[in-house]
Amino acid sequence: MNQHSRPQAIAFIDLVSQRQRLGKAIDDAVARVMGHCQFINGPEVTQLEAALAAFSGARHVVTCASGTDALLMVLMARGVGRGDAVLCPSFTFAATGEAVALTGATPVFVDVDEATFNLDASSLKRGIAAARKAGLKPVGVIPVDLFGQSADHDAVAAVAEAEGLFVFDDAAQGFGASYKGRKLGTFGIATATSFFPAKPLGCFGDGGAIFTDDADLAETLRSIRVHGQGADRYDNVRLGLTGRLDTMQAAILIEKLKIFEDEIAARNKVADRYARGLGNLVTVPRLASGCTSVWAQYTIRLPEGTDRDGFAAALKAQGIPTAIYYPKSMHQQTAYRNFPVAEGGLPVSERLSEDVISLPMHAYLDEATQNRVIAAVRGAVST
Ligand SMILES: Cc1ncc(COP(=O)(O)O)c(C=O)c1O
Repeated sequence: MNQHSRPQAIAFIDLVSQRQRLGKAIDDAVARVMGHCQFINGPEVTQLEAALAAFSGARHVVTCASGTDALLMVLMARGVGRGDAVLCPSFTFAATGEAVALTGATPVFVDVDEATFNLDASSLKRGIAAARKAGLKPVGVIPVDLFGQSADHDAVAAVAEAEGLFVFDDAAQGFGASYKGRKLGTFGIATATSFFPAKPLGCFGDGGAIFTDDADLAETLRSIRVHGQGADRYDNVRLGLTGRLDTMQAAILIEKLKIFEDEIAARNKVADRYARGLGNLVTVPRLASGCTSVWAQYTIRLPEGTDRDGFAAALKAQGIPTAIYYPKSMHQQTAYRNFPVAEGGLPVSERLSEDVISLPMHAYLDEATQNRVIAAVRGAVST
């Protein structure tokens, strides 16, 4: 490299390499859909649901139009509404609390664990107390498997059981990970996931799925995703949505699911090398005992006093993109700041919003590129 050449830019998430790897398999899958023209509810939708059930161990899978719809549809099916409180972590993507608010119920925000970024069961108890004080009826909790790591499902279930709440897992980032040897998709009453292109298992547009062992819930969800249909689509027995995953996306996901385990293994190798290369300088993500991650994000915490914007700019100058998930926790957002929070506040969520930063992470990050990222982070933190 001479002094005038710019370092080659690294992809934050490399969809192009995956597309090249899958090449003809995806082309053929799309061509099959173009051949039969059943763009809605084509045979690939049912095939994908069966493949996702086999992969996760869940009895029923209902695909849908997005991760947000997956969250909303389950809450609708449960009849969650005005006067109800649903507890969720504040340090998450907005869709988690948004789905609750869209039903007319109240999201009550709770804090997360400093080491894993996932819901803190002791804050959950304080959130339930805050909900009751606000005159609300706590009915459920939505743990989030943030950045790809499974939440502490036993700890959440213990509090939920004692308080009579349902547990509904938001695995939009964590699908493919496991907890104590069990794949996500099998905890609580149901699990929601997203197939947004940047997710560990993503399609070529928007998509999502719901996993459940409850046959009645699955049947209600199938009705909700087609405007609350009953005997047929012009018999409307409940409120619903245009909530379907289209056939083209299903066909693409069938092919992507075949290489998903292999991609998860590759992501874990990247995470291990990052941890070895950076662990003595920044706070690297920690997997809790019994938890695995699919590394939707590789999120580090910078040493106290580091200028995060300056750090990001130093990496950018070397062609290395970064992202901040999330610059504000939900309870700090304009749309959500009037909803209740757990007693004692949410200090961990607020701290994390100030010092986290995510590094490039995907299954196609070769060792030379990983070394570039590691060297750049080390250089930027030490200066
Ligand atoms: C934690 C979490 N929940 C829900 C969603 C919503 O998924 P979608 O973008 O497919 O609606 C996302 C994805 O962006 C997410 O990260």
